[in-house]
Amino acid sequence: MTEGLEPIPAGRLPLSAQAPGKCIVFGEHAVVHGAPELLFAIDLSTQVVVRPAPRWSLNGDPGAAERHPYFRSIIQSPWAGAQPVDVRAVSRIPRGAGLGSSAALSAALTCALSSTTGGIDRPALAQRSFEVERGAQGVGSPGDTSAAVAGGFLTVNGAGVGEPLWTVRDGDRSWRVGRVADPGWVWVVAHTGVPRATGDAVRAVGARLARPDGPALLDEFRRVATEGTEAVAAGDRAAAAKLMDRNQELLREVGVSHPRIEALLEAARPAAEGAKLTGAGAGGSVVALPRPGAETELVRRLARAGGLPFVVRPARHGAALLSAP
Ligand code: PMV
Repeated sequence: MTEGLEPIPAGRLPLSAQAPGKCIVFGEHAVVHGAPELLFAIDLSTQVVVRPAPRWSLNGDPGAAERHPYFRSIIQSPWAGAQPVDVRAVSRIPRGAGLGSSAALSAALTCALSSTTGGIDRPALAQRSFEVERGAQGVGSPGDTSAAVAGGFLTVNGAGVGEPLWTVRDGDRSWRVGRVADPGWVWVVAHTGVPRATGDAVRAVGARLARPDGPALLDEFRRVATEGTEAVAAGDRAAAAKLMDRNQELLREVGVSHPRIEALLEAARPAAEGAKLTGAGAGGSVVALPRPGAETELVRRLARAGGLPFVVRPARHGAALLSAP
């Protein structure tokens, strides 16, 4: 069994679980259309504590299902169990920042509830967590939820690269998810502070790719993510950085950059080997590969340009039960 991919054992309420957020290095948006993606789980996570309760509630709010689509999506899942629960959720992942806060909540809660109904193996947990997110968002790919379930570096649709982990299905569509080795680099992320809705951005890109030059653009997304994943897997930093810049040009071309993103990328340039938006864009965050030794300068530059920067380290482990509260 691959380390960190052990099944989630059966457990009884009350119990607690956590799952990490993620950072996409190559291929966001294009992955929804079948192109490859490379992403890694980050060392910021969401933790949930689940207790028996007379009715479903989130952080003490029994009306949460009306306001919180991810929570509603969980409650409506056939496997979520007949027993209503109160969920306390605490997250260190900034929300609406493109860093996978909704996927982490979906995976942590799915992990906890699946434990109460007999336990679950990782491929099934990845499938269920994706279905929760898909149910709430309406569109999307299983990269974020797979990173929350598996931890580490992952490829989605990355033919021939890495060790195959599982396939996530949605009707007649499917995405192959595989493991790539962590190259051991330091990454810097900065949040623009501009919130956005993933579903809206995904639909806008879908419309853009339906135009006559869409197939050629998608081919270029595919080339960049394929070569970028190979560069990361080979530890070739200079090549990976150059491809991040090229990926950003493509994301700009399909309309998901934002003046605040461009301002952060411009400010980062002297201290970054490569940089791009990460996640759905239209706001959200950027990710940069600092020039060796320039991490602090990069963080300083991004902060001065109005971003909320921080160093992220890949998280080796995905969703896990914590000891019962
Ligand atoms: O911004 P986020 O964390 O919702 O990331 C979305 C990544 C997309 O490729 C834009 C959508 C998806 O589901 O893959």
